[in-house]
Amino acid sequence: VRHLLGIKDITHEDIQLIFETADNFKDVLNRPIKKVPSLRDITIANVFFENSTRTRLSFELAEKRLSADVINFSSSGSSVKKGETLLDTVNNILAMKVDMIVMRHSSPGTPHFLSRHIKANIVNAGDGTHEHPTQALLDSFSIRERYGEVAGKKVVIIGDILHSRVALSNIFALQKQGAEVMVCGPSTLLPKYIKDLGVKVELDVRKALQWCDVANVLRIQLERMQMKYFPSLREYTLYYGINKKMLDSLNKEITIMHPGPINRGVELSSDVADSQHSIILNQVENGVAIRMAVLYLLAAKG
Ligand code: CP
Repeated sequence: VRHLLGIKDITHEDIQLIFETADNFKDVLNRPIKKVPSLRDITIANVFFENSTRTRLSFELAEKRLSADVINFSSSGSSVKKGETLLDTVNNILAMKVDMIVMRHSSPGTPHFLSRHIKANIVNAGDGTHEHPTQALLDSFSIRERYGEVAGKKVVIIGDILHSRVALSNIFALQKQGAEVMVCGPSTLLPKYIKDLGVKVELDVRKALQWCDVANVLRIQLERMQMKYFPSLREYTLYYGINKKMLDSLNKEITIMHPGPINRGVELSSDVADSQHSIILNQVENGVAIRMAVLYLLAAKG
């Protein structure tokens, strides 16, 4: 049984295949009839133990566009609240003849644990601070769409790197495709192992913006924060918040990305988030085609 647990486990060729498949699905999604029969008779459960808007809805839409049958599980309001274990929950869902599990969980490694105990395909929709593979794929796909290729592009990931599964998956994805990767943030929000990943590290956001072609700006993840690590939100915005004045002072055009949800006025001002520099909603649009491609390729390979 095949899975998509993380970008670390896949090759550049896998990424290329996903992108070429997503190109075809993006064409389909731009037609009046957006549905294809590719996953007819396949049943997919979206199993979410953590909040989500974009990932959950775009997986559900991707599954429906592929003609799969879909069920949605949220841990809130479920029998998890009565003490049912993760494995019992998933095995009960699989007993209903479900073929694939899309899972989000707050604990790193949860989908990897499940992959050792169940026989269905698993797609990791974000496991704690570890990986968010489909987000990194849609991010690189959006860079490729903007510039024609990812190789050689200078991409800086800015903000709360320490708590970010998006950062780690993006670092793996961008490096596999030959991009130059920098991370930028306060040293309290950079993990100790960051230099071992072969990325550039910059503490000054103005220098990082001057260096890059693309800035992928992350949310400050207050829900994962221990206050001892953190500059106050006001301090963060003062030193790292990106606003129009900063972009205007650069002597070049750069592209602004954000995985969402945005803390408007904290890591990004609204006049940047909503500007012509921003491809944030293109990222969301591309998420559907990328997730269609991932589900289709997993189902095709069994
Ligand atoms: N980008 C992302 O994972 O957003 P959600 O948490 O809303 O799914």
